[in-house]
Amino acid sequence: MNAFQPGTEPDGAMPSASDTQSRPRHVEESSATALRPHAEDQYAEELALLAAADDRPRPPGWKLSPQAVVTYLLGDGAKITPKYVGPRRLMEVAVSTLATDRALLLLGVPGTAKTWVSEHLAAAVSGDSTLLVQGTAGTAEEAIRYGWNYARLLAEGPTAAALVPSPIMRAMRTGAIARLEELTRVPSDVQDALITILSEKTLPVPELGTEVQAVRGFNLIATANDRDRGVNELSSALRRRFNTVVLPMPASADDEVEIVARRVAQLGRALELPEVPAALEEIRRVVTIFRELRSGMTEDRRTKLKSPTGTLSTAEAISVITNGMALAAHFGDGTLHPADVASGIAGAVIKDPVSDGVVWREYLETVVRERSGWLDFYRAARDA
Ligand SMILES: Nc1ncnc2c1ncn2[C@@H]1O[C@H](COP(=O)(O)OP(=O)(O)OP(=O)(O)O)[C@@H](O)[C@H]1O
Ligand SMILES: [Mg+2]
Repeated sequence: MNAFQPGTEPDGAMPSASDTQSRPRHVEESSATALRPHAEDQYAEELALLAAADDRPRPPGWKLSPQAVVTYLLGDGAKITPKYVGPRRLMEVAVSTLATDRALLLLGVPGTAKTWVSEHLAAAVSGDSTLLVQGTAGTAEEAIRYGWNYARLLAEGPTAAALVPSPIMRAMRTGAIARLEELTRVPSDVQDALITILSEKTLPVPELGTEVQAVRGFNLIATANDRDRGVNELSSALRRRFNTVVLPMPASADDEVEIVARRVAQLGRALELPEVPAALEEIRRVVTIFRELRSGMTEDRRTKLKSPTGTLSTAEAISVITNGMALAAHFGDGTLHPADVASGIAGAVIKDPVSDGVVWREYLETVVRERSGWLDFYRAARDA
């Protein structure tokens, strides 16, 4: 077998159609107008600052040293903004895993920043977070290995130019981090296509009598949802090829308020919402409500509560506040009032109209009504 040379075409020909497609974003749009720029574009300045100051050893193929990657994720209190709020140790384990021959599995309940962390890790390590496979029940092996451009396949037969590489194959060729979202939603037999890639670091292409050998720097970050466990369990053969890092819910209310406030401010800027004051008070309220209902206990630990069926994740708190700000900016007086968030909160809590409706009304009557300073919110929520 003759392996593809890293970064060059196997036969020295012009770049193939499939390769020129590999990062279409540069051709199709400028990141300045993208609704959601990729992390490496949005934080290009921070990444450049870190790279310039980084004198620690970098693993082969890495743009930054592992220490600098962790600083990028957690911030340095000055020019580098925190992306992840949570235990430093978890990020150190995640980053150092990527420098080994084991892949990284980020596990956690919905909304614990698995996708977010995986994107920023890929951006910081490889400068490219776009080598992404979205796992679904319909994910086929081609999405993990490679497919064919059928017009060319019919015209030319199986040639290197007719081959359409998966994002994972492209990451192997360039020595970059590939990402696989929602691994446990992928059917088990398709998951198994990863075993050779992760253990041999090669991807055979029997049709061409060749293989792609991963260039140093290649690794894989997969994410999976705790709640999906049992949908498609990971085989033990595959599991052994991953180090698992479990991302927790934010430890304290203050942490969660910080996460929500930070993301809401970023999203508000990205959506060019006018500045909306008084948001912090409402963020605190949403976070308090979500935490109390999640834990089944009021903050003062005096009253037991029933928990609703939904997860009430941090991500949902972020969207409740962002929606409230859009309402306040476009239809209100420009200040975030309880009424702007009340229906959003009710919507997040009430996933099952019958049982969650009961939980929510009970919470309103027994907790919200009695709490000092919450009367406006109580009225707004009751009317919503
Ligand atoms: N600990 C945290 N630090 C920083 N941001 C967080 C944290 N937890 C949640 N977020 C924010 O929550 C949002 C949602 O996170 P993300 O989509 O990555 O969750 P997820 O774990 O992938 O959820 P799902 O299982 O639904 O895919 C992101 O915008 C992220 O910024
Ligand atoms: Mg996700």
